[in-house]
Amino acid sequence: MKTLKTSLTAMMLALGIAGVANAAPVEIKFSHVVAENTPKGQMAIKFKELVAERMPDKAVVNVYPNSQLFGDNKVLEAMLLGDVELAAPSLSKFNKYTKALQLFDLPFLFKDMDAVERFQNGPAGQELLGSLKKKGLVGLGYLHNGMKQLSANDPLRTPADADGKKFRIMSSDVLAAQFEALEAVPLKKPFSEVFTLLQTKAIDGQENTWSNIYSKKFFEVQPYITESNHGVLDYLVVTSAEFWLTLPDDVREGVKEALDEAIAFGNKVANDKAMADKQAIIESGRSEVLTLTDAERQQCRSDEAGMETVRRRNRCRAD
Ligand code: SIN
Repeated sequence: MKTLKTSLTAMMLALGIAGVANAAPVEIKFSHVVAENTPKGQMAIKFKELVAERMPDKAVVNVYPNSQLFGDNKVLEAMLLGDVELAAPSLSKFNKYTKALQLFDLPFLFKDMDAVERFQNGPAGQELLGSLKKKGLVGLGYLHNGMKQLSANDPLRTPADADGKKFRIMSSDVLAAQFEALEAVPLKKPFSEVFTLLQTKAIDGQENTWSNIYSKKFFEVQPYITESNHGVLDYLVVTSAEFWLTLPDDVREGVKEALDEAIAFGNKVANDKAMADKQAIIESGRSEVLTLTDAERQQCRSDEAGMETVRRRNRCRAD
């Protein structure tokens, strides 16, 4: 009798162990819109590699770059439906979900990427990671791309140069207000459409980082780039609460550790690429890089007349 019981227990244990061993690894689909040779593209690849190295039996990361799986306007909806597990949209693209992150869109708020980093690592920046909680999303960390520059068909040196021109912007109302303050026409369009809009001259310009301008070849269809450093384009690495909180503890911890390392790697790439891609654009001779004088820069920073126009217009809309 004892022998039968022992063999049954052994059999059940064996089955149990075999069951665990055979459990399929959790799939983490990581969807993004940029090219692979960008800070986000490189970070995603690093994350995939780290997870594959450290926990192949527990999780597998599949990366979908270049809007292959979802574009900007769909990825968060898809995440809440459980169709994608990870994304890193730019902070400007959470407009529909929270207004809090639009703080990052204020022009000339951060002097440089060190200032951005200090803010993000401080208490206010860390608190903002939780600003999507009510919407069922979890902010897992910030990832850098860099400071934004302005590209256009004509040289842009002063606010008046943008007057009446059409600029593609990301889906943020603060960015829209910024261009309205210049009396320009902001158009919220997905990243995947920018090259064609520029090439066909449906728009006059756009704002972006050196790495995006380079990797998506915007510089080939924009004769001027003003090195304005007027704002930041960073990302929030995000997942759904439903996915994240139902992961087994050891999987969640392993994934978070790999993600933090991949983000640190991506931030270093961001730093290196900003300079390298700017240089590559200059050397291509396709686009002239304009540097602002102190006086021109100051004029852009304090375009109070423009801001007053926007305030007045918004007051009229509210009335
Ligand atoms: C991105 O870097 O993810 C895209 C930025 C943009 O939409 O301009």
